[in-house]
Parts: sequence; C-alpha cells; structure tokens
Amino acid sequence: MAHNVIMIMPGFPGEMPLFTRGLAEVGATVWGVAPGGVNELPELARKNLSHYRSIPELFTNTPAAIAAIREWTRGVTIDRVSCLWEPGVELAAAVREALGVPGLTPLQASRFRNKELMKQALGAAGVRVPRHVAARTVNEVQAGAEVVGFPCIIKPIAGAGSQDTFRCDSQAELDAALAQLGHIEEVSVEEFIDGEEFTFDTVCANGNIEYFHIGYYRPRPLVARTLEWVSPQTLSYRHVDDPEVAGGRAMGAEVLKVLEFETGFTHMEWYKKSDGEVVFGEVAARPPGARTVDLMNFQSDIDLFTGWAEAEVHGRFTLPVERRYNCACITKRAHGQGRIQRIEGMDRLRERCGDAIVAVDLIPVGSPRRDWKATLLSDGHVTLRHPDWKETMAMADFVGEELHLYAG
Ligand SMILES: Nc1ncnc2c1ncn2[C@@H]1O[C@H](COP(=O)(O)OP(=O)(O)O)[C@@H](O)[C@H]1O
Ligand SMILES: [Mg+2]
Repeated sequence: MAHNVIMIMPGFPGEMPLFTRGLAEVGATVWGVAPGGVNELPELARKNLSHYRSIPELFTNTPAAIAAIREWTRGVTIDRVSCLWEPGVELAAAVREALGVPGLTPLQASRFRNKELMKQALGAAGVRVPRHVAARTVNEVQAGAEVVGFPCIIKPIAGAGSQDTFRCDSQAELDAALAQLGHIEEVSVEEFIDGEEFTFDTVCANGNIEYFHIGYYRPRPLVARTLEWVSPQTLSYRHVDDPEVAGGRAMGAEVLKVLEFETGFTHMEWYKKSDGEVVFGEVAARPPGARTVDLMNFQSDIDLFTGWAEAEVHGRFTLPVERRYNCACITKRAHGQGRIQRIEGMDRLRERCGDAIVAVDLIPVGSPRRDWKATLLSDGHVTLRHPDWKETMAMADFVGEELHLYAG
C-alpha cells in the first residue's frame, strides 16, 4: 500500500531534510512542496523526495497554494500532510482539510500557533497558565499590564525564538517596550513566571504518547537572548522518572489531551517555580528546533527522524528507548565583529571532556560571524553527553567558559 505524504518545507530550515529522509526510509512516497525552486533544496532532501512542486505563493496566498497542490496531486490519495516548521503548521492543516486528509484540523492547529487561543483552551480545562490578556493597541497593552501586574511579559501571540519578547518590571520598561512593538499586530501580556524552564517533547501516534523527552534551558531563553556573552545551553534530562520533573510530565500529557493532539511531534515549554509550582509556557505541533532532536537521539542512540516518520506514516513507534545519558548542546557566540580569526580552548576542552563530546560544529575561521539575535545556533555549538547530570552541567559550563571564538 502506498503511503503518500506531502511534506511542506522538505529542505529548510534546519533539520527538515533529515525528517524528509525519515519519511522515505519508512516507505513513504514523499511529495515535497516549498516556495523555492528544486535547485534550492539540499541534496539530502532532494534525493528523498519522489515529487517536488515549487509554489512561490505557498505562504502568502493559501487558496492559491491549495489549488496548486490539488492540481498537482489530482488522482492520488494523500495519506498525510506534514509540516515541521512552525510558520507552516496552520497551512498544513488547511491543506489537510481541503484534501480530506486526517491529522490536525485548522481549529486544532490554531491552538498550537496562537498563544492566546492556546492558553484560553488550556486555562478553561484547568491547566495552570500564566495570567494573560490579549492586546492589539497601546491602551490594551497598558490595561493588560494593570490586570496581570508587574513584572509582566509582552510577546507576540505567534512568536518564536524569544523574538520581540519583553520583560517589563515597571511602567518605564513597559513604555520602552511599547515603543518597540509597533510592527506587531497582536500581543499577549502575561504574568511573569519566576522559575526554571523545561521542555516536554513528544512523538505521538493515534493520541498516545509513544516517546517523550524532558529538556532544560540554562539560562532561561529570554535571558540567553538578552545577554550576548552567555553561551546558552539546552540539556536533555536523563532521569525522567525523577519527582523533580513529574509535574511537567503530567502537565504535558494533560495539555496534549486537551488540545486533541493525535500523531506527530510536539514541543512544550513549562516553568517550575521555586515553590515547586508548575506553570505552562507554550506548546507547538512540531519538534523543538536548534538541534534538540539530536540531543534526544544522542541520549538513547536512536534516530527520531525515522521514529517520527514511522509514527506519522504507520501510526506506530517501535524505537527502543533506553535513556543512557544526559546531553547538552552549548551554543557559542564569537567575541568581536567581522570574520572569525581564531578559536581557542578546543585542546583543553578535549582534555576535560574526552569522549563525552559527540559533536563540534563551529563556523570555520575566515567565515563571517552570525547575527546572534537572529539565529539560535549563533556561531556554532558543541554537543556532549554523560551519564551523570551534575557532570554534564559542569562540562557544559566548561564549554561556556573555556571555548572562545574571536572575530575581527
Ligand atoms: N510569562 C512568562 N514568564 C516568564 N518568562 C516568560 C514568560 N513568557 C515568556 N517568557 C520568556 O520568554 C521566552 C520566550 O517566550 P515563549 O512564550 O517561549 O515564546 P517563543 O515562541 O518566542 O519561544 C521564554 O522561554 C521565557 O524565557
Ligand atoms: Mg518558547
């Protein structure tokens, strides 16, 4: 039996070619669609596609995009429509609806994209969400801040990567944030939750959580995005049965049930306050980005690119999951501006961490450093793993403190 899967954005960004490969590996006939020409696709994506269609208006004109996809797949039964890139999650749902394909509907998808609809649905079901108000105007933001109180967070209702997210501790900071928010149509004004920040990521099949992962951000993403000198860490937590994270796991399962998620990858963020209270952050109907799927893979020596594809295409998950390691991905930002001149500390790092280092991907000497605000991966990263949690964090800090890229 043929399994025809439409993959929206099969080649970009980030890990997409690996997911496309996963689909082909589990036996799907993959129909790739993106705005660009076939020549723009990375080789790995291209060789795993059976069909490709370039639709320049894919993200700008949904009816036209749907008409083009309809015409392209006429006479073919499409079994699944996937998009693992956040901005395409609702488009995928619209295509599903138009073609009569099972999976997240437009209404369900909107609750994974619009942070207000998300929190309304979850709050109504009894999930602890931050106090929140939606606002479209300066006056509404002001009124919202009065309702939730200081400190508050102001963020776009469909943001990503902490962009345009402001913490306001006072009226003066709120005024400063308002001055920078002009281009955003709608924001969430939220109660500021003081605590640690974790993730709960899953692969589901037919409404069951078949695989899950607990991640931990050091420091909190908003802090990491505010201070350039920080080397942000994403960690994979090995001891998922530990009571420390039980509240987040339970919340994660509840959230997916309330939002009626059935099959695919999910990525939830949650906060743990110092008094132990667990608070919902956000949830997305896609995998976490910034190479976090690699951390999950290194943790258990598995390949979730195909594990996800098996769930998506066949509705089952058969990877053996044994969590042997904690993992850490440490992102580096170069000092100075311009091109990378030298990298220091690699020798000491190899001496300190040895076999624990599983990947080093730093931009090479001579290449221009990246805009650290625009990319989560900045100027490169080091990935490591170790059975002991404290040792994993110590090694991650060593990468933060002892490895340096200098631009000039
Ligand atoms: N209510 C909140 N309380 C405390 N911190 C928050 C809150 N909302 C957002 N943040 C901070 O901003 C970051 C980005 O917000 P988030 O809702 O995760 O949006 P994004 O889609 O940009 O990741 C979070 O990881 C967290 O550090
Ligand atoms: Mg987030």
